[in-house]
Amino acid sequence: MTERILVVDDNEGIRSFIRDALTSAGYQVTCAADGREAADLLDRETFDLTITDLMMPRLDGIGLLKIARSVAPQMAVILLTAHGTVESAVNAMKIGAVDYLTKPLSGPDALRRVVKGALSQRRFQIEAPPAKRFGDMVAVDPKTKTIVSLIDKVATTDTTVLLNGESGTGKEVAAERIHQQSRRHDMPFVAINCAAISETLIESEMFGHEKGAFTGAAAQRIGRFEQADTGTLFLDEVGELPLPLQAKLLRVLQEQRFERVGGNQTIAVNVRIIAATNRDLATEIAQGRFREDLYHRLSVFPITLPPLRDRPLDILPLAEHLLTRIGQRLEKPALHLSSDATLAVQKYHWPGNVRELANTLERGAILAEGDAIEAAHLLFSTSPETASASHALAATDAEPASLRGIEKEAIRQALAAVDGHRKKAADRLGISLRSLYNKLKEYDLD
Ligand SMILES: Nc1ncnc2c1ncn2[C@@H]1O[C@H](COP(=O)(O)OP(=O)(O)OP(=O)(O)O)[C@@H](O)[C@H]1O
Ligand SMILES: [Mg+2]
Repeated sequence: MTERILVVDDNEGIRSFIRDALTSAGYQVTCAADGREAADLLDRETFDLTITDLMMPRLDGIGLLKIARSVAPQMAVILLTAHGTVESAVNAMKIGAVDYLTKPLSGPDALRRVVKGALSQRRFQIEAPPAKRFGDMVAVDPKTKTIVSLIDKVATTDTTVLLNGESGTGKEVAAERIHQQSRRHDMPFVAINCAAISETLIESEMFGHEKGAFTGAAAQRIGRFEQADTGTLFLDEVGELPLPLQAKLLRVLQEQRFERVGGNQTIAVNVRIIAATNRDLATEIAQGRFREDLYHRLSVFPITLPPLRDRPLDILPLAEHLLTRIGQRLEKPALHLSSDATLAVQKYHWPGNVRELANTLERGAILAEGDAIEAAHLLFSTSPETASASHALAATDAEPASLRGIEKEAIRQALAAVDGHRKKAADRLGISLRSLYNKLKEYDLD
């Protein structure tokens, strides 16, 4: 089968030189005058190889390369670069280009040799096993790679880990990875969400209760600590834990023993603790909402997961990873982003991080008629934080807006946007339902 090559350069002379050299060698060649035109072609047609210039109007070679990685991951890409910009070509190879050619091109033979090499390398890549991922965690950006190596180091110990990061940054995935990589991986991994359970039930949820311990305690119940014995206990959203429970938890962490609610038998357990929070615990301590001694117990090995906007190189690989997952669920195995959608996904600031990316892609996949998700299918949730913040700032032109004022306004607008539905408003704001209730009280918004 004739191999198809796309040649992209804003210089007509270079385009025709390459076209002639490759057509005479038996390849089928299509040309485009800039990255944008090439991206449109990639949406509609399949190529085995793209040869692209780096500096072009509208969309440059790096931009095109990134699009190509998601629109046509199997396609090989060769970069054309002028002398002196070899460094950027080398960088481009890290994002997936297979080779580069320097301009002025020396002659048709050298060109054909590089093309042949790139095409065979591509075949090799297709036949090779899928690229090794860090467990189930995508980590392409150097920032994330550093985090993953920290995770893998601490995983082999029994050290308590505190995961910090905005909502949706992957704290739970990180906790699971720590467990998977630990000696305890065949033992239970038990998670408890400290925000999801009501204050009255959380103690029995954690430590269990004896029959008749309180009204409704019809039978004995084993708590999460006991379930997690010999394994790992994940205390999710630990910042939401009510103060009295913080005191109990501290004692249990110090002594590795406790009593069930309503019981007097002391139970000893061996659990590895991983805690997570999206709150700044230093602030929580300063405000008297979190115990400092518990904080020190938990933050033996703190790891902060950066927001997605601070690790842009992860965005497209994550999208690819998530689309595979979504595609399996929706039985659309060839699901992918169009070039416009790829650009939009890269440009967006993702206030809700990886979770928002996953949700946006899932909505897009449902809206897409075929396998390509177009930009129009990506309904970005306008971030209530930013929208309201600018609104509140604009509204108080004369006096500087206080952070509290902005927060109050954001809550008011989020509630208005979902017809007062508390749970939906909390989700929009990226906070727990309980925090929302606290803030409603604090700001007298009830
Ligand atoms: N590095 C990653 N690789 C693959 N998937 C990821 C990665 N980070 C996050 N995800 C996915 O993004 C979603 C959100 O991640 P996760 O639930 O771990 O976030 P979180 O920090 O615990 O959020 P929250 O604070 O809202 O609970 C999940 O579907 C998860 O599988
Ligand atoms: Mg979580």
